[in-house]
Amino acid sequence: MTKPPASFLAGGLSASLADMGIIGVELKSITWRYVGAKTRRSNNADGLLQQSPSSLLQAGFSPLVRQYSTSSNMREDIILRLSVGEIKKMQQGQAVSGLYAVSRFEARTTEKAGRFGIFTVSDVTGSMAARLWNIAPSQEEALKSRSFLKLKGITGCYNNEVQLTVNELIIPSAEEIGGCLRELAPHVDGDLAAMYREILAAAAAIRHPGLRGTVEALIKEDLIVSRKFQYHPGALSYHHAAIGGLLKHTHEVLSYAMDFCRRDGGLNQDMMTALAILHDIGKVEEIEVDGYGLPVGFTKSGKLLGHICLGLKMVAAAGRSVGLDQETALVLEHGIYSHHGAPEWGSPVLPKTKEAQLIHYLDNISAKNDQFDLAVRQVEPGSFSAYDRGLQREIYKPGNGE
Ligand SMILES: [Fe+2]
Ligand SMILES: [Fe+2]
Repeated sequence: MTKPPASFLAGGLSASLADMGIIGVELKSITWRYVGAKTRRSNNADGLLQQSPSSLLQAGFSPLVRQYSTSSNMREDIILRLSVGEIKKMQQGQAVSGLYAVSRFEARTTEKAGRFGIFTVSDVTGSMAARLWNIAPSQEEALKSRSFLKLKGITGCYNNEVQLTVNELIIPSAEEIGGCLRELAPHVDGDLAAMYREILAAAAAIRHPGLRGTVEALIKEDLIVSRKFQYHPGALSYHHAAIGGLLKHTHEVLSYAMDFCRRDGGLNQDMMTALAILHDIGKVEEIEVDGYGLPVGFTKSGKLLGHICLGLKMVAAAGRSVGLDQETALVLEHGIYSHHGAPEWGSPVLPKTKEAQLIHYLDNISAKNDQFDLAVRQVEPGSFSAYDRGLQREIYKPGNGE
C-alpha cells in the first residue's frame, strides 16, 4: 500500500490529485475515500480525503467530467466513486469505476451477442441499468451472490437512458463495503435506537395487560422478531424501502396515532398503540434481506401469504402465549387484517372499528409522505420528478419564490 502524499495530509488536494494523474473530474457529488489497510492506520488521511463538493470546487476543479485516470501507484488504494445520480448526467463514453450495490442480475444468451449479463447498479442517489458482455461464469456467480461489487465500465445509452457497460468486476472487502455502506445502501434518516426506545415506551404504557403483553412478546421478548423489527426495510420498493424502514414507518404511524388520541378522547388508546406498532409486523417474515439488511426479495411465505396474513399469525400466537382475551384479540386482529383499507389494496375486509379505520389512514399518510420525499429527492426546486410508478404521477418540487 502506498502512503497518501504529504500534500493530502496537509489538505493540498489540488496538487495531490494532479500527482495521481486525476484531472478534470466531476466534483459536484464525488465521494473521495481512501480504501485499504492504510486508511485504518491513517485517520487523518481518511478525514481529509472525504472533502465536501464545495471544498473540492474551491480547490479549483472543473464542475464537468472530462477525463480522469488513476495512473499513479495509488490507483489501487483510491476509489474515485461517482454517485449513480452523477453518472446518469454524464456523456456517453466516459470511464466509471467504483463500489456500487448490484441487484436484479439476469444472464441471457443470444446468437449474435453470446452470453451477457443484465443487472442494476445503484447507490443512495439512484439506480441505472448495466450490461456485461461475454460474461464469465465467475462473474455470473459474483453478480448472483453479492450485493456490492467494485465495477469498471463505460457510460453508454439505451432507450434514451444512460446505461453502464461494465468490463471488470472486483469483489470488495468487508471493510471497503462497511466504509461506505451509508452511501451505497438506503438507510432511513434518524436515530433508530431512539425510535425503538420510544416504541418500547409506548408499548409499556398500554394499560390493558393482555394487549401490552402481546405487543411486548413480539417487539421486545422475541429476540429474532425484535431484532428484525429494528432494522428491517419497510418494503422492497415504493415506501420506506431502506434499512430501518419498518421501524421508521411504525414510529411515524405510532406518533400520528398518539396525536389523534390526544385530540379524540373517544379513541381506545391501548388499541391504537397496539395496532400502530403491530400493523406491519408480518413484514419481518415477508421480506427477505441480505447480510447487510438490504431487501432482496420476498420470502417463500411472503410470496404465498403476504405480510397481513403473516402478521395475523404472529399476533394470534403472541396473544395466546400471554392469555389475551378473545374479544380484544379479535378486534386487534381485525385492525391488522383491514389496515390496507380495501380488498384491492390487500385487505379482505374494510375497517369496521374507528381505530382500524384511523390506523388505515395514518398508515397511508406515512407511506405517501415517504413516496413524495423520495420522488423529489434528486429534483431541483421548481422542477418535476420523473414519472413515479408508485404514485402514478410526476411530483413537483416547489421553487423557492421571492
Ligand atoms: Fe401493511
Ligand atoms: Fe404500514
